[in-house]
Amino acid sequence: MNAANKMNSMLSSTALAGKSIVVTGGGTGLGRSMTQMFLQCGANVLITSRKEDVLKKTCEELSGFGGKIAYAVCDVRKIDEVEAAITKAENEFGNINGWVNNAAGNFISPTERLSHKAFDTIVDIVLKGTYNCTLAAGKNWIEQKSPGIFLNIVTTYSWTGSGYVVPSAIAKAGVLALTRSLAVEWAKYGIRSNAIAPGPFPTEGAWSRLFPADLAAKLDPLQRIPLRRFGEHEELANLAAYLMSDFSAYVNGEVVTIDGGEWLQGGGEFNNLEAIPSEMWDSIERMVRGKK
Ligand code: HXC
Ligand code: NAP
Repeated sequence: MNAANKMNSMLSSTALAGKSIVVTGGGTGLGRSMTQMFLQCGANVLITSRKEDVLKKTCEELSGFGGKIAYAVCDVRKIDEVEAAITKAENEFGNINGWVNNAAGNFISPTERLSHKAFDTIVDIVLKGTYNCTLAAGKNWIEQKSPGIFLNIVTTYSWTGSGYVVPSAIAKAGVLALTRSLAVEWAKYGIRSNAIAPGPFPTEGAWSRLFPADLAAKLDPLQRIPLRRFGEHEELANLAAYLMSDFSAYVNGEVVTIDGGEWLQGGGEFNNLEAIPSEMWDSIERMVRGKK
């Protein structure tokens, strides 16, 4: 998306004023879009990932959108780098109020083709990366007696499972369990934990690894979505801003699905009747009524 474009925000330019938020994987894709929306709503945002050039460019492109933006190079698999990112955010903004666990790795593959290293790589980024950040930021909030908000980006296959992305599915299921567990355990510290489960939202990172052109031509991903369109980044970013704001103060332990109805279409026993042409329904009805 074009960095020069302001997003339409459902919240005001001061809805997140005074808040500082860390977004892991905030240099690209959905992390970048959430970052822009948080800035537009007045928050300060620290973005992190492994690639300094990407982070730097995003900071340049998103400065002037509202709150302050800064970055820290941080591989979420490495706890010392996560702790350094926390220190950087505190030095830049004074404190941290919210943390978005968005960084992820994924690719499609038949499971039997995967090495142990391939499994480790995805599970380490998604699950270990999320609990590394959660434990470090959460202990910090508890020690400082500060409230805080976690927002974890999962997927709809966190609860259904999915073939061909099995390392991601098991890791995202773990992240969802972490979200719900800490929503209860850490509520006493004023720490909320919620999740967003997106359906397909076009990003370079996801599309290049999950819907390569030849495959997309064969298996049109739009056919799986009742609304017959992909998500708009602005739609997800507005939801994220709401969940990071005080307007959602009583929402805790929730996972909000934003997928155009995709996962339910796969689940409903008779949803594939969508394929029946309308002219066939007269004869089908006659057959069904004839069974009285
Ligand atoms: C089989 C593969 C493979 C593939 C990598 N591997 N790609 N195996 N098929 N296509 C194996 C490698 O051979 C190696 O194992 C191991 O995985 C680690 O690979 P590396 O390239 O060394 O890892 P690394 O450099 O750390 O890169 C991690 C990555 C990469 C996940 C492989 O794609 C990445 O950096 N991704 C980050 C961004 C991303 O994935 N975004 C998409 C998120 S989308 P061996 O044994 O050979 O050493 C998402 C959406 C879900 O999550 C829902 C959509 C609807
Ligand atoms: P993306 O642009 O590839 O985002 C992934 C980000 O994670 C990148 O910025 C990447 O940056 C960072 N990252 C990867 N490994 C990391 C590591 N070890 N340490 C720190 N950062 C790391 O893809 P996206 O589509 O926006 O995905 C964002 C989130 O949405 C993910 O959690 C994904 O699972 C979820 N999601 C996306 C979709 C979709 O359709 N797009 C659907 C469902 C869920 P570096 O490479 O610089 O480290």
